[in-house]
Amino acid sequence: MTPVLALSQTAINFTYLVAAVLLIVGIRRLSSPPTARSGNWIAAVGMAIAIFFTFLDEDVTSYWLILVGMAVGTVIGIVSARLVKMTAMPQMVALFNGVGGGAAALIAAAEFHRIAPEPGHLSGDSVGAMLFSGLIGSVSFSGSLVAFGKLQEVLPGRPITFAGQQVMNGILFVALLGLGVAAGSTEEGIWMVLLLLGALLFGVMLVLPIGGADMPVVISLLNAFTGLAAASAGFVLENTALIIGGTLVGASGTLLTVLMGRAMNRSIANVLFGAFGAAPAGGLAAAASTDGKSYREVTADDAAVMLAYAQRVVVVPGYGLAVAQAQHAVRELADLLEARGVDVKYAIHPVAGRMPGHMNVLLAEAQVPYPQLYDMDDINPEFPRTDVALVIGANDVTNPAARDNPESPLYGMPILNVDQAANVVILKRSMSPGFAGIDNDLFYEPNSAMLFGDAKSSVEKLVAAVKAA
Ligand code: TAP
Repeated sequence: MTPVLALSQTAINFTYLVAAVLLIVGIRRLSSPPTARSGNWIAAVGMAIAIFFTFLDEDVTSYWLILVGMAVGTVIGIVSARLVKMTAMPQMVALFNGVGGGAAALIAAAEFHRIAPEPGHLSGDSVGAMLFSGLIGSVSFSGSLVAFGKLQEVLPGRPITFAGQQVMNGILFVALLGLGVAAGSTEEGIWMVLLLLGALLFGVMLVLPIGGADMPVVISLLNAFTGLAAASAGFVLENTALIIGGTLVGASGTLLTVLMGRAMNRSIANVLFGAFGAAPAGGLAAAASTDGKSYREVTADDAAVMLAYAQRVVVVPGYGLAVAQAQHAVRELADLLEARGVDVKYAIHPVAGRMPGHMNVLLAEAQVPYPQLYDMDDINPEFPRTDVALVIGANDVTNPAARDNPESPLYGMPILNVDQAANVVILKRSMSPGFAGIDNDLFYEPNSAMLFGDAKSSVEKLVAAVKAA
C-alpha cells in the first residue's frame, strides 16, 4: 500500500524544517510563564506537522498499526493529563519519558532484525546508531520505570545500595560495550537481544542507589538520554524530524539537569554515585524529633495581626502548598493584605515543590499576577527589609544550614534567606523534615513561629482573621 499522497523527500524535509522552527520557538516561549501557554501550542503544532507529513513518506506502507498506536497513546495521554494530580507530575514525566526511550530501543531492535539477515547490509553508521539507540533507550526505559516506582512509592524511595555495587555496575557497563561490539561485528540478533536485556538491567542498577532530593535530577538526565536515543533512532530511520526532535530533547534535558544540579548543589557524578540520603544523618526519624531544641508556636489570629500591620510581606511557597492546594486561599490572603496597603511579593526557589516551575504553575492557576513572583536572586536582597516572611509548606529551600553549616548534607544549596526577615511565620503540619529528610534550623530561630495545620485551612484561618483585624 502506497501513501495517499506521496511527497518527495525534499518536500517532506522542508515541512520538517518548518516543524523544527516551531518546536524551537515553542521551547523558547516555555521559558517564561506569560508566553508558556502559547509556546506549548506552537510546539504542539510543530509536532503535528512532523507527524502528518511523515505519513506522506513513500516508505510508510501501512497506516493501520500507526493509527491504532496513535489512538491508544492519545487516549492514555489525555486521560492521564486530566487525572494526574499536580504533585504526581514528576512520576508521570518519568513514565512518559521512559516510554519514549523504550520506543527508540524498539525501533533500533526492529531495524536490526529487518536488515541484519542480509549479511553486509548494515553500514557502519547505521549499525552504530542502532546499537546506541538500543542501549541508551533501554537504559532510559528501565531507569525511568524505577524512578516512577520510587516516586509513586511502589518501590522504597530511599537509595538501595549494597557492597560492591559500583564495581558491579562498572563490569556491567564494560560487558554492554562488549555485547555492542559483538552485535555490530557479527550482525547476529542474539547479541542485540542480550545488549538490550543488559541495558535494561543497567538502567535499574543505575537508578536503584539514587534517592532523596536527587530524583528530579535523575529524571531530567534520563529525559536527556531518551532524546539522544530518539535522535539516534532518527539516523537509523533516516528521518530528519526525529533527529531534530531528539536532539532538542537531549539538549534541553541536559541543560535542565545541569541547572537543577546547580540549584540543589549536586554534581551529576555525585547524583549518580553519591547515594545521597542512604543513611540520612539528620534523616526522617532523627530529624522529626527536635532534639530538645525549642520552637515557638503562633495562633492564626496572632499571625494575622502581624501580617495585617506589616509593610512588606514575602510569601514563600513550597511543596506543602501544592499538597494542600492552598494557592487560591493564598491569593485571597494576598489580595486582602494589598487592599490594606501591604506590599506582597512571592519568593520562588528553582527547586521548590517537586518539579521545575511547580510553584509558578500553581500560582498562575490561582491568577497571581506574574510580576509579583520573584526569583531567588531577586528576592534574597529583600528579606532584610521584610516584616513577615510567610513560609507556606516550604522547608528544604529555606534551611539556613545549607548556607551556614558545612556539616549539613544540604550545604552549598542556594536557599531563600527567609531567616533574615524580621518575622518568619511557618505553615506546616508538624516538625517533620522536608524532601531531603533534614531538620530545618529555621524553625528554632528566635524570629520564627510555627503555625501548625494543613496549609489550606491555616491560610483560610488567616484570611478570616485578617478580615476581622
Ligand atoms: P520540602 O522541603 O519537601 O518540604 C515540604 C514541607 O511541606 C514538609 O516539610 C511538610 O511538612 C509540608 N507539608 C506537606 N504537606 C502539607 C500540608 N498539607 N500542609 C502544610 N504543610 C505541608 O519542600 P520545598 O521546601 O518545596 O523543597 C523542595 C524539596 O524537594 C527540595 O529538597 C528539592 O531539592 C526537592 N525536589 C525538588 C524538585 C523540583 S525540580 N522542584 C523535584 C523533586 C524534589 P509537614 O509534613 O510537617 O506538614
